[in-house]
Amino acid sequence: MATLVSPTTAAGSADALLGTYKRAPMELVRGEGVTLWDAEGNAYLDFTSGIAVNALGYGDAGLVRAIQEGAASGIVHASNLFRTAPGEQLAAWLVERSFASKAFFCNSGAEANEGAFKFARRWARAIAAPPGDELGVFGACAKHEIVSLRGAFHGRTLGVLAATDRPAYRAPFRPLAGGVTIAERDIRELDVVLDGERVAAVIVEPIQGEGGVRVVAPGLLKELRAMTTERRIALVFDEIQCGLGRLGTLFAYETTGVEPDMVTLAKPLAGGLPMGAILVNAEIAAAIKPGDHGTTFGGGPLVAHVANYVLSRLGDPALLAHVRETGAWFGEQLRALGERTGKIRAVRGAGLMWGVDTHESAGAIVERARQAGLLVLTAGEYTLRILPPLVISREDLARGLSVLEGVLTSGAPPK
Ligand SMILES: Cc1ncc(COP(=O)(O)O)c(C=O)c1O
Repeated sequence: MATLVSPTTAAGSADALLGTYKRAPMELVRGEGVTLWDAEGNAYLDFTSGIAVNALGYGDAGLVRAIQEGAASGIVHASNLFRTAPGEQLAAWLVERSFASKAFFCNSGAEANEGAFKFARRWARAIAAPPGDELGVFGACAKHEIVSLRGAFHGRTLGVLAATDRPAYRAPFRPLAGGVTIAERDIRELDVVLDGERVAAVIVEPIQGEGGVRVVAPGLLKELRAMTTERRIALVFDEIQCGLGRLGTLFAYETTGVEPDMVTLAKPLAGGLPMGAILVNAEIAAAIKPGDHGTTFGGGPLVAHVANYVLSRLGDPALLAHVRETGAWFGEQLRALGERTGKIRAVRGAGLMWGVDTHESAGAIVERARQAGLLVLTAGEYTLRILPPLVISREDLARGLSVLEGVLTSGAPPK
């Protein structure tokens, strides 16, 4: 694998980038398998997958080929005003394997959730508006509210920010979009909040990622399904982080025993190229008309061609079984590590998505792990988040665990 070489002559410097991220100091230049290298030649075992994006790891030969093939057609982009085969194939593949009857493609997770909110409102208006006012030309439709759950993360753009439960992300940008409420993950509260006259949709991450790797109880999801069906509220699963193989099933909803009305996808979908998707059931799809939504780049031939390749891998039953088996083993190892060291308060997760509550600041552990050659994430102040590439072997997981054990037991390095 070649290192990254810029076609421009500009000297690289982080100084020109807007300061929205606190970046780790090393510069990544090369990746292969589950390992990244920095410009100084240091290797890092990656337990982050670019935050759940790089499910196939780095330098996957088929992925590189798919990108080359997609580009070689000459039509990197054609506009959604014209038909192109890769997007149609991708939609058919997703629809065949899910509850959905249609797919819409966009460019990121936040954009997928924004679209799902719009589709829910459009459908709610179609079923609830007074006859003759289906297009809403005469006024607002009461059934328009979106409900999300305590601890949720649905993205940073202005609409979905209102559904993201992170005070620090929200407060500087008030007023947030209206008509969005955050409810406790409690069925009695949801029973009150989910008023069928006012609520169009409830959005749920089956496992909350940024919010601390919190598994939403399957019992709660089942009750939520019954309640939303009865009250004609769309149930939307945000599977942007936990879907597409991460839990050892193609879709996260398959692990819950519940079928949602819409699913949003992004992160691993096009192997690191920007792509999001909204899967929509037949009833909601029927309410969406030309002009209701759109995006210039969504589902273009290059990204869709690459996504077809990625899904051919992520849908492979052998890969999904690998995630289930190694994931279960990994969870046991994390618990054993906690018992051995006394440095872990709780372990949560499924498949290859794990959260580890620590006594010490998670940020400090992430930094020491990085210095020891292991990349891990945080999910809150005292929670580590582990999202390895799905192709990772048990040996590499064990190697990372032993680095993590050393880091947890070493305490803070001397100043
Ligand atoms: C569950 C969930 N939803 C939405 C998003 C937003 O996705 P994006 O960063 O692609 O906009 C994320 C990103 O971390 C996520 O984890």
